[in-house]
Amino acid sequence: MKINMDSSLRRNDDEKHIQPSLGMECAQCDNRRMSEPPDKSATTAASTTHFGYRDVPVGEKQKLVGEVFTSVARSYDRMNDLMSLGVHRLWKRYFVGTSGVKRGDAVLDLAGGTGDIAALLHERVLRQAQDRQAHDDPPEGRVVLGDINGDMLSVGRDRLTDRGLVQGIDYVQCNAEALPFPDRSFDLVTIAFGLRNVTDKQAALREMHRVLKIGGRALVLEFSQVKAEWFRPIYDFHSFKVLPRLGKLFAKDAGSYQYLAESIRKHPPQDELKAMMEAAGFARCSYRDLSAGIVAIHSGYSV
Ligand SMILES: C[S@@+](CC[C@H](N)C(=O)[O-])C[C@H]1O[C@@H](n2cnc3c(N)ncnc32)[C@H](O)[C@@H]1O
Repeated sequence: MKINMDSSLRRNDDEKHIQPSLGMECAQCDNRRMSEPPDKSATTAASTTHFGYRDVPVGEKQKLVGEVFTSVARSYDRMNDLMSLGVHRLWKRYFVGTSGVKRGDAVLDLAGGTGDIAALLHERVLRQAQDRQAHDDPPEGRVVLGDINGDMLSVGRDRLTDRGLVQGIDYVQCNAEALPFPDRSFDLVTIAFGLRNVTDKQAALREMHRVLKIGGRALVLEFSQVKAEWFRPIYDFHSFKVLPRLGKLFAKDAGSYQYLAESIRKHPPQDELKAMMEAAGFARCSYRDLSAGIVAIHSGYSV
């Protein structure tokens, strides 16, 4: 599958931000820092949204989220292991392992951050070297790792490159709410622990639907609503007492981990998110809880 773009990254040393070199117009991906909010002139000044438990003007949330991920980018992977005791790796493996992705697919991993999901997808999408030689053709499979934050993207690119993952992967700095890809470009679009941070989640879901080929699948892995009553006080203690302390100790940033705990509570629970996917145009929407609903995988198809 060919995606009509040259998404090779170039580094602008002045801004220290990765910029995609796209062969197409992209309203959200010009040479501004992506942490700047897009022009929300259509939104009234009085419109607010949540940033964790705080109400903030709609136009400010993207900047605030950008500051969180710029602050945690370097410590992000270590903190994930610490906070979840490594369980996030199992969730991610299950997420990709049950995605139905196959060799030769074109896949977009949105809000891909430091690349855990993209790396797992890459293993499955690219043809094996010997297979390619036998067929004497280049690998058709392709993974695009998209993220709005240049610092997260930069850590992700360095990390995957260090692991020798170079061929068949592109890095694109982009806003999930306005994707710089043509309609019907991908077989699979994933977003893991990202949707929660997007200001206009419905717009992001619509965009995911737009860029999917007919028959393609969208998968959302996200923190969700814990179903087991007895577990909630323990989970709340971990979220509000342990996480900010771990953040302070290991990332020198308690606030970002307080935001993490709060943003999870503000994210639409399972059935609400399923309804949002249906409203975005997805068919055969369903979800599966993992770890008693600490996280859920939502799935929908473009038909
Ligand atoms: C918690 S991290 C998840 C990273 C990765 N998917 C993982 O599972 O480890 C959330 C990511 O969402 C990105 N993000 C937030 N808002 C976004 C938006 N509007 N469009 C694209 N990415 C966004 C952040 O920059 C950050 O890298």
